[in-house]
Amino acid sequence: MNVLTVNDLHLDYGSGASANPILKGVSMHLQRGEVVALLGPSGSGKTTLLRAVAGLESPKSGTIDIGERRVFNGGGAGRPLELPAEERNLGLVFQSYALWPHKTVFDNVAYGLKLRKMAARDIEQKVKEVLSQLGLGHLGERFPHQLSGGQQQRVAIARALVYNPPVILLDEPLSNLDAKLREEARAFLRELIVRLGLSALMVTHDQAEAMAISDRILLLNNGKIEQQGTPQSMYEAPDTLFTAEFMGSNNRIPAQVVQRDGAAARLQVGGMALNATARGAGGSKETAALIRVEEVRIGRAPVDNGIQLPLSTCMYLGDRWECLFKSGEANVRAYSRHRIDPGNYWLEMPAEKLWVF
Ligand SMILES: Nc1ncnc2c1ncn2[C@@H]1O[C@H](COP(=O)(O)OP(=O)(O)OP(=O)(O)O)[C@@H](O)[C@H]1O
Ligand SMILES: [Mg+2]
Repeated sequence: MNVLTVNDLHLDYGSGASANPILKGVSMHLQRGEVVALLGPSGSGKTTLLRAVAGLESPKSGTIDIGERRVFNGGGAGRPLELPAEERNLGLVFQSYALWPHKTVFDNVAYGLKLRKMAARDIEQKVKEVLSQLGLGHLGERFPHQLSGGQQQRVAIARALVYNPPVILLDEPLSNLDAKLREEARAFLRELIVRLGLSALMVTHDQAEAMAISDRILLLNNGKIEQQGTPQSMYEAPDTLFTAEFMGSNNRIPAQVVQRDGAAARLQVGGMALNATARGAGGSKETAALIRVEEVRIGRAPVDNGIQLPLSTCMYLGDRWECLFKSGEANVRAYSRHRIDPGNYWLEMPAEKLWVF
């Protein structure tokens, strides 16, 4: 069952001659118990979509349903409708979290429950439970200005989770945490959402975070959904160059398509011929071939589907080395378990992993 359904949503900032279209026909849904990541570059409309769902922005047209209930209807058939934010019963965590500065952590989190007239004893138990789940158990009596940015962000998450809303909307909830805490927090957040049976729509511009935390990814590009699917399908089977480039770390190799037979493409790269796979519409003549950095295999011996380049430099990443091979225009990165010596190498690019669009 869908807990959230958005259909053909259009939203402009400004009006008349100065209208600036931001959402250009977005359709999406969120199923009960599902975590969906809304991913996309800066300015693509992620926050705007979340705010429209929450009732904080007025779309121009389209519909928004929360569960069975229509909360927005604009521009098309039927009675125009726009329920205010407080009647949509969503848990919200925003990019710039806004805690009440004069309330303690405990009272910030308890506030929503007090509004719902929960008994004081139950409130205390529930707030303490959520605070300890978020690693804030010892901070209940502090005020927001006495917390680190990361701790404040977790209070904002606690505040959204405390009354178990059926849908929570999170806008970059982990962006203020440092790298290590962030990795822990995303595992924790996903586990928490799943355990509480919540459904979540979470904005991020970090593809690794989106893949780690979600069941499904919606990739937004300039106000439209570019592609959606499971993290695996988005990573392993992108339909467009935009999706392929956004998901993962890539080599982009200037190439010419000299022959095409269904999905099998023959490329000319520098002076060498390579077999590749055409994805999506597949293959203008002058194009860029794409291969994930981790799919390039480094060797000394000649290979069938590969190019030969000299090593330029290697960078130590802790668990492996990232090596750059370079000659003139050609420029390929690959991972190696060990540091490698200077010289010429064969870089094998399996045809099914070398893509043209
Ligand atoms: N209140 C506003 N008035 C006018 N334009 C706005 C307003 N809010 C956002 N915009 C514009 O709408 C576009 C989408 O903004 P939005 O905040 O949704 O992007 P985003 O995908 O969340 O980006 P980021 O990853 O940087 O947070 C941007 O071009 C932005 O400048
Ligand atoms: Mg944003």
